[in-house]
Amino acid sequence: MPGERYAADAALRSVSEGRDADGASSLRLELSHGVASLELVADGVLRVRAFAHDEPLRPEHALERGPWRAHACSLREREGGFTWHTQACPLRVEIEATPFAIRLLDRRGAPVAELGELAFADSGAARIALRTAKDERFFGFGEKTGPLDKRGARLVMRNRDPESFEYTDPLYVSIPFFLVHRRGGAGSLGVLLEAFAPSHFDVAATREDRIAIESSQGGLDLALFPGPSPREVIARYSARVGRTPLPPRWALGHHQSRWGYKNARQLRALAREIRRRGIPGDALHLDIDYMDGYRVFTWHPKRFPDPRGLLSELSAMGFRVVCIVDPGVKVDPAYAVYRDGLARNAFCRRDDGGRFSLRVWPGEAALPDFDREDVRAWWGEQHRPLLDAGVAGIWNDMNEPAGWSADLRVGRLMLPLRKQDLSRVVQADPTGAKGELSHESVRNLYGLQHCRATQAALARDPQRRRPFVLTRSGYAGVQRYAAVWTGDNASRWSHLRGSIPMLLNLSLSGVAFCGADIGGFFRSCTPELYARWIQLGALYPFARTHSIWASRRQEPWRFGRRVEAIAREALRLRMRLLPYLESLFRESEQSGAPVWRPLFYEFPDDEGSSAIEDQVMLGPALLVAPVVTRGAQQRELHLPPGGWYAWHDDAFYRGPRRLTVAAPLERIPLFVRAGSLIPTQSPVDHAAQVPAEPRVHEVFPGRDAQALFVEDDGETTAYRDGQVAATSLRFWSNAGGRLRLEIGAREGPYEIAERALRVRFHACPPPQAVYVDGERLARGDGAPGWSEAEGCVDVRLRDRGRGAAIEIAPAP
Ligand code: GLC
Repeated sequence: MPGERYAADAALRSVSEGRDADGASSLRLELSHGVASLELVADGVLRVRAFAHDEPLRPEHALERGPWRAHACSLREREGGFTWHTQACPLRVEIEATPFAIRLLDRRGAPVAELGELAFADSGAARIALRTAKDERFFGFGEKTGPLDKRGARLVMRNRDPESFEYTDPLYVSIPFFLVHRRGGAGSLGVLLEAFAPSHFDVAATREDRIAIESSQGGLDLALFPGPSPREVIARYSARVGRTPLPPRWALGHHQSRWGYKNARQLRALAREIRRRGIPGDALHLDIDYMDGYRVFTWHPKRFPDPRGLLSELSAMGFRVVCIVDPGVKVDPAYAVYRDGLARNAFCRRDDGGRFSLRVWPGEAALPDFDREDVRAWWGEQHRPLLDAGVAGIWNDMNEPAGWSADLRVGRLMLPLRKQDLSRVVQADPTGAKGELSHESVRNLYGLQHCRATQAALARDPQRRRPFVLTRSGYAGVQRYAAVWTGDNASRWSHLRGSIPMLLNLSLSGVAFCGADIGGFFRSCTPELYARWIQLGALYPFARTHSIWASRRQEPWRFGRRVEAIAREALRLRMRLLPYLESLFRESEQSGAPVWRPLFYEFPDDEGSSAIEDQVMLGPALLVAPVVTRGAQQRELHLPPGGWYAWHDDAFYRGPRRLTVAAPLERIPLFVRAGSLIPTQSPVDHAAQVPAEPRVHEVFPGRDAQALFVEDDGETTAYRDGQVAATSLRFWSNAGGRLRLEIGAREGPYEIAERALRVRFHACPPPQAVYVDGERLARGDGAPGWSEAEGCVDVRLRDRGRGAAIEIAPAP
């Protein structure tokens, strides 16, 4: 950490091999100032642990980390060092004695990673350097503001609610993981530092040929994940830290939130207005005002006299309610949650055993020690008053943890004085090895463990509904328990623009389900900024509008009729794309692939894609080029290699190329990759509504394509037991002169009633005839039948799950 005093770089003294009962081997390196150990895992993942005094905490025991099966490797001495390898893995490790270095090499002997300059400080801090080449770029690092490529940055990982209104480094989430991307498809590498204590990354800032990785306590526990593609890196990394479980379908709809929906009357009126105006919406969020004196797990008796009645009314209108829950428990002997927590000794304490509290919304508040399993279970039980009332999701806030030492009240304004002294606070050791640890040494886990408790409580649902938890704070792996929103941004163009690299890097760090407050939290949004923000935000993986009570209201109709129509259209597009979004979340659950992807993730060999930070791939098929500049009526963008169709008129372009397109306020430039099959539906008011057309396959010709679409109930975890229905699709642009789409018979036990199916062939020349299973299909708007409009051919069928082969013969 800045100011740390390190002994000279470690030098190798001796090497010894260890082998456990299963034959897995590790290498122990005795160094001049400490010890390092190496393990090599099946597909070339290398783990390096290094420490001078205390061993790093074992994340396996603390965090339900994925299995780590080290290989049996053999050691060979060579000039100047050692080689360590196994037949089972194409990668090998080389150890250099002086200067001490560890190298991971691919099968051709090309370096995948090189670590050196290992040094330890007396404080327990440790530092290591990853060598980098000039043309390498660096992504990930969790929730960070600033450019997409982090070369040149000095980044701190210590979860923090930023003081005052600045929105800088560090923020609420720390994920000490990054992706090294080499130009021209020369391979990628992922690096994870398991550090629950604060850590620091010098990303080729001090020296352009290295990234210095520093942990403030407990030595280093590093994992290197080879690619070669970004996709493979993320697959390996996410296998280790965990992936996003499928969200409930409703949580993929739009969430309307505001710090300021104060009582049942206002919430009811909000719900009615959203429906009356035909604006899609699935969730309403209740901020701290629903509580009684900000006591968590209570309802304000006057403002919300009948929560159960209110929530069932809202549910009949298709709305779910999400309630905020802060970790701080009001210090109030008359308050059962506090009394009970105290009796169980559930709160973080001082190192002298004394009580600890800080100031949050309810005044003095005690912090549960979520590193203890019994405390997590106890916390989970406290959710009863919310869940019994029908609350569908929990929004965990202030869990860095945030708090202040005193507050100043000026009328309605509360000014927190942020000085916070946590230096003497202790918590349980999450690994169970040591009993007690300083809060600082496990600080970055606080939010994750909070969400782990919440998710477990929701998962005990007798109807097995999928939990929805939203969090502000987190650490590597938080995606297993919660979606992440990026905290208190502001209604500024720079924050709209900045949300793109921020969410892309968060996505690459494993958090697939993420979003920024649409419209901005602080300050007042202008109609134009709101219009541009909702257009982009409707395509965020997690789409929530939220703002502070002191700002202009941010419901879609607050900005005039034109902007209301724009918001409605943007959210209708999200609802149309719901089946596609679900397929992306399914892919993420299975392989860790992010829902939001930087262009280079899909096009790692395309030079032009590597630095783009104002465009996004929503999955493999959709390219989003939002307008993020005030007054802009057009925008310039990059199209990667291949064919592309403009979403709004199917105009065709061939990439790679730069392109300037018109972007009037009504339009967000969107492009579809040629050769895509996108599952959509007709728009709905909310996700549980049955669409008039439940399934529309949008076919964008250009390349032959195939896809597998899996459907489930969208609500429960039965999908984990195989309660799914899968449909495979194959498309040929030219099968004997015809376009051909084969829809396979539906497979799997999940039953879908007979329904309407439409297949829309985009950019399709006028047909001479359309055939289904070899039979000529009649022209007409009924089903079965086909029609032609705006360069598209629509084929309407009844879908009984038996599959169909559709052919379009072009007119001569
Ligand atoms: C924090 C949250 C914000 C919330 C507010 C009041 O600032 O980040 O979203 O509205 O607290 O609970």
